[in-house]
Amino acid sequence: MAQREKLLEIKNLQQYFNPGKPNEVRAVDNVSFDIFKGEVMGLVGESGCGKSTTGRTIIRLYDATGGEVLYDGVNVHGKKSKKQLKEFNRKMQMIFQDPYASLNPRLKIADVIAEGIDIHGLAKTKEERMNRVYDLLETVGLNREHANRYPHEFSGGQRQRIGIARALAVEPEFIIADEPISALDVSIQAQVVNLMKKLQKEKGLTYLFIAHDLSMVKYISDRIGVMYFGKMVELAPADELYKNPLHPYTQSLLSAIPAPDPISERTRKRRPYDPASHNYADNEALEFREVTPGHFVLCSEKEFKQYQAISK
Ligand SMILES: Nc1ncnc2c1ncn2[C@@H]1O[C@H](COP(=O)(O)OP(=O)(O)OP(=O)(O)O)[C@@H](O)[C@H]1O
Ligand SMILES: [Mg+2]
Repeated sequence: MAQREKLLEIKNLQQYFNPGKPNEVRAVDNVSFDIFKGEVMGLVGESGCGKSTTGRTIIRLYDATGGEVLYDGVNVHGKKSKKQLKEFNRKMQMIFQDPYASLNPRLKIADVIAEGIDIHGLAKTKEERMNRVYDLLETVGLNREHANRYPHEFSGGQRQRIGIARALAVEPEFIIADEPISALDVSIQAQVVNLMKKLQKEKGLTYLFIAHDLSMVKYISDRIGVMYFGKMVELAPADELYKNPLHPYTQSLLSAIPAPDPISERTRKRRPYDPASHNYADNEALEFREVTPGHFVLCSEKEFKQYQAISK
């Protein structure tokens, strides 16, 4: 793995909706992990487990109800000057699942892409602004003729490329991509992931890449975190997670990935996860424990010892 300098430290992050009320939802419940500079951190788990809320709280779209997020050592949710806030808004960008809903239909692509350039005053003249837009279009595999068209004139894959260009326009350091390929045709998904990977390498970007299944994050992620009902249940380097999944929920997610050859696919069975299978005693404390270097699992002391034994 590349350098291990921390860009983000997420510590005991909590995001409760309607706290204390009967309809309280613990969307993010004491989640802790680091994101290193220049890495792609994958975040997976089924619908409703809290992936988007984690991303949105990190990027300050929501105030955290507990815990903290440090970006380069600075508390993201702490008090800040206008200038500092603006700088945060520039450094951290988000790419969304539905590129159509996230692009203003009344704006030409040039203005969609240049919005951040304008807000942050990154171009001195109109000509510089347009040249940046043209460069960005080419960077994401589109061309300058597209600048004068409107969002509805593009395919889903092209719209996602526009979303990527818009995020890149302000020269961010950190991008949260929230299921950026889930809404695209399967045939287009690999192209968009490959483009994102290429840009990440070329520009030294750091990504938090959210997806609901493990097959989508496999090729892009350096490390992967698995969420279940608001908790991070396992986190490990990507190849380690596929080779040695320890938490039964991760094993269940992995068993859901279709097998590449038709014969094993025919006999493949999704292994269901039953939270009761842990058989925890009342006094057992669950903690996010490091089983082998960099491989964390939410588990009891007893499970921890078992996991260590099988990981030898
Ligand atoms: N603004 C909100 N108010 C109340 N509850 C919310 C809000 N946003 C999300 N939730 C709830 O928080 C939980 C986590 O939602 P979240 O959108 O983070 O999940 P997700 O993992 O991103 O799911 P998906 O894969 O469907 O996008 C869900 O139970 C959801 O209903
Ligand atoms: Mg989501």
